Amino acid sequence: MSEKNIMDYDTVRLDDENNEVVIIDQTRLPGSIELIGLHTAEEIWEAVYRLRVRGAPAIGVAAAYGIYILAKQIQTEDFQTFRQEFVRQKEYLDSARPTAVNLSWALNRMLTVVEKNQDKTICEIKKLLKQEAEEIQREDILVCRKIGEYGLSLVKPGDGILTHCNAGQLATSRYGTATAPIYLGQERGYHFKVFADETRPLLQGARLTAFELQASGVDVTLICDNMSAAVMRNGWVNAVFVGCDRVAANGDTANKIGTSVVAAVAKQYGVPVYVCAPTSTIDLDTPTGNEIPIEERPAEEVTELWYRDRMAPEGVKVYNPAFDVTDSALIAGIVTEYGVARAPYTESLAEIFRRKQQAPLQ
Ligand code: MRU
Repeated sequence: MSEKNIMDYDTVRLDDENNEVVIIDQTRLPGSIELIGLHTAEEIWEAVYRLRVRGAPAIGVAAAYGIYILAKQIQTEDFQTFRQEFVRQKEYLDSARPTAVNLSWALNRMLTVVEKNQDKTICEIKKLLKQEAEEIQREDILVCRKIGEYGLSLVKPGDGILTHCNAGQLATSRYGTATAPIYLGQERGYHFKVFADETRPLLQGARLTAFELQASGVDVTLICDNMSAAVMRNGWVNAVFVGCDRVAANGDTANKIGTSVVAAVAKQYGVPVYVCAPTSTIDLDTPTGNEIPIEERPAEEVTELWYRDRMAPEGVKVYNPAFDVTDSALIAGIVTEYGVARAPYTESLAEIFRRKQQAPLQ
């Protein structure tokens, strides 16, 4: 029997019997594959904050299962008491990370289930919450596959593709977003040559993207973040595919810190940048990138986390934003599960949501 690899594990899974959300602890990758069970609100919050589970869609799925597990434990038959406690837990989980809109999107979907079913018993509401969380995960898989199909139509066999951070299977329930065209291409013999930026400071590209692509047999080459200009100047990159944490109504996109640098370099070398975005990550209530909240993280991630010895002077000032905003002008297309949106994005993204309303994915 062949050995299991990272692609054989669920990024997020519900274990209803044991009241836990089971995740791969991504802080341990690629050194060891460890599954952990999250039971309490504090454990779920910590896992999201510490990036044990990370990537916008995976955070959404983990939060949906998480709030279901917490709701199950609310002991009351009174709707208002149940709702009040549900909202308290929801707001706590929502505070774990601010940029990826999928976190609040998934939690709000769960709250809607509670609010729409006031006439039902608490026991029935709990069952509906479980169904909704499972539906969020089922949709995630469907959406990523669709994004893969649309993304694949933008490239050709043998192309060089550069990606930044991890918008892979580890960031979703399957396929990833930016990696979905790569995996579908792999199934169809496209032989892409992929460059994975290491992605300082948390190294999601090196630890996660290179790991999962390699495990899948994809031709992947790891580069440092400051090498993307060199590989593009060499003519080795035909397209950039990245994920996103929040797309504003005008197409400005927040993604892992460094994405905007890649996009600026790509413009210089005439390489198209495609942002792979499930509609759950598009936030039409945020008008432009200026209004997207950008998470700032501890200085230690920059000064010492991956080093045997600290590599920066004690007391030095550190700025550690986890995301940056890529101006929509640098984006060739936003690849959603309803098609590829092109500039002007205010119109094309609104059109994507019209399509979603008319014919939701089944
Ligand atoms: O801080 P992280 O690792 O959660 O950041 C992840 C990213 O920036 C991804 O590109 C984004 O969430 C899209 S995942 C499909």
